[in-house]
Amino acid sequence: MAPITPNPTPPNGFSDVEVTEELAANFLALDTWAFPMSQGVPELLTWASPLDWSRARALRAADRDGLAAIHASYAFSRFPVPGATLAAAGLTWVGVHPEFRRRGLLTSMIGTHFADCQARNEAISVLTASEPAIYGRFGYGLASRTVALTLPRGAALRPVPGSERVSVSFEVFDAAKHLALVSELHEHCGAIAPGRPGWATRETPQLQQFFVDDPESVRDGFESLRILLAHTEHGPSGYALFRRKLDWDAGQPSGLVAVSEVVAGDPATLHALWSRLLDFDLTHAVTIRLVQLDDPLLSLLVDLRATKPRVSDNLWVRLIDVPAALAARRYAAPVDLTIAVSDELLADNAGIWRVQAEPFSDNVSVTRADDAQISLDVRELGSLYLGGSSASALAQAGLLTGSAEDVQQLSAAFGWPLQPGVSWIF
Ligand SMILES: CC(C)(COP(=O)(O)OP(=O)(O)OC[C@H]1O[C@@H](n2cnc3c(N)ncnc32)[C@H](O)[C@@H]1OP(=O)(O)O)[C@@H](O)C(=O)NCCC(=O)NCCS
Repeated sequence: MAPITPNPTPPNGFSDVEVTEELAANFLALDTWAFPMSQGVPELLTWASPLDWSRARALRAADRDGLAAIHASYAFSRFPVPGATLAAAGLTWVGVHPEFRRRGLLTSMIGTHFADCQARNEAISVLTASEPAIYGRFGYGLASRTVALTLPRGAALRPVPGSERVSVSFEVFDAAKHLALVSELHEHCGAIAPGRPGWATRETPQLQQFFVDDPESVRDGFESLRILLAHTEHGPSGYALFRRKLDWDAGQPSGLVAVSEVVAGDPATLHALWSRLLDFDLTHAVTIRLVQLDDPLLSLLVDLRATKPRVSDNLWVRLIDVPAALAARRYAAPVDLTIAVSDELLADNAGIWRVQAEPFSDNVSVTRADDAQISLDVRELGSLYLGGSSASALAQAGLLTGSAEDVQQLSAAFGWPLQPGVSWIF
């Protein structure tokens, strides 16, 4: 295997620290330097931790107490890609102490992360970024976008037959009662054919618990977590997680509903859930941050513009092993193309790859080739990988080259019937 650039060896004056759970307080102390928060380490230690400590890494500075930099990753053993799942690493908890920033610590940690991914046979690394400008230089491509909405109370939805027959119940969220159901519905609904690429599930008990952990000090005046559960004659069919906050404006009620996730297994359930969320007394607006670009809600809303949609980046994808990643997904149209990939950091990825596939079939072949019809950087391949970017649009931006006919074939094959996206930040 060719060497990894950036070099995983820490810069001079810094060294690797072996991380175990005993280091939790140091890890959190560094985290609060990277991500300022009002809570101190003693309180943070009482919160659920999402981390698998065997996948956490840290660096220290010579002659200094505490940590200089940290990162970790989540094991997504069945990360959804178009038509399939594969083992992916979810890069997370990336932080460098302000005193040591811009000295190459993140760069060396990315080298460590790539080496870890290779050792674990994780063909892709995925992340949600705190700042979008950070990761492109390391070959991460913007692979999905989401939209944040502020829906006026009572926003009209087009009717959906059967919605009135979906029964709903409003409950205070109780992990003992609801967590398993939420986890099961989240994964099940994301996998309903044709499947939503990128719909990472909270696979581990730690991640599940962390997602619904509800410390009072981060509620910002909102009530504790609530769940709206939907049932059809076939059983539980969806849920919405939300909180409300009461407020008044010149004597008028102006409360807010903050929705964190809506998951529905069928159109009637989706309609029934949103109808209730949009109709709370004493509120004037409903917010939700991570709505997929083709979420059925957007088709049901009579007045999309009134929701003040704001598009943002969602998932970033880095191909660690190009042939394994390309062979793992399915393609939406016949494809037989040779693609020249440049990759300054992982030399094994660079070169010309021939991708041959039948539509929606696991009959996929990825082999080395000599002459290229398409040329792009691994970053753009990451953008295309989940089906959330059009090759033609990237060509129009000057980010990949090829004949119009070949680019069109690439666009059709690498697309997918549903836009990729993930419903939670990791
Ligand atoms: C973002 C962060 C991890 C960068 O760490 P760092 O050790 O300073 O990064 P490096 O020194 O390895 O920088 C590598 C390159 O990335 C650039 N870079 C780093 N952070 C950047 C940012 N936020 N925006 C734009 N460029 C950035 C550097 O300028 C440098 O560019 P160069 O190679 O052209 O000189 C660190 O500043 C931090 O902890 N920030 C707060 C927490 C955070 O946002 N974490 C990321 C979570 S997704």
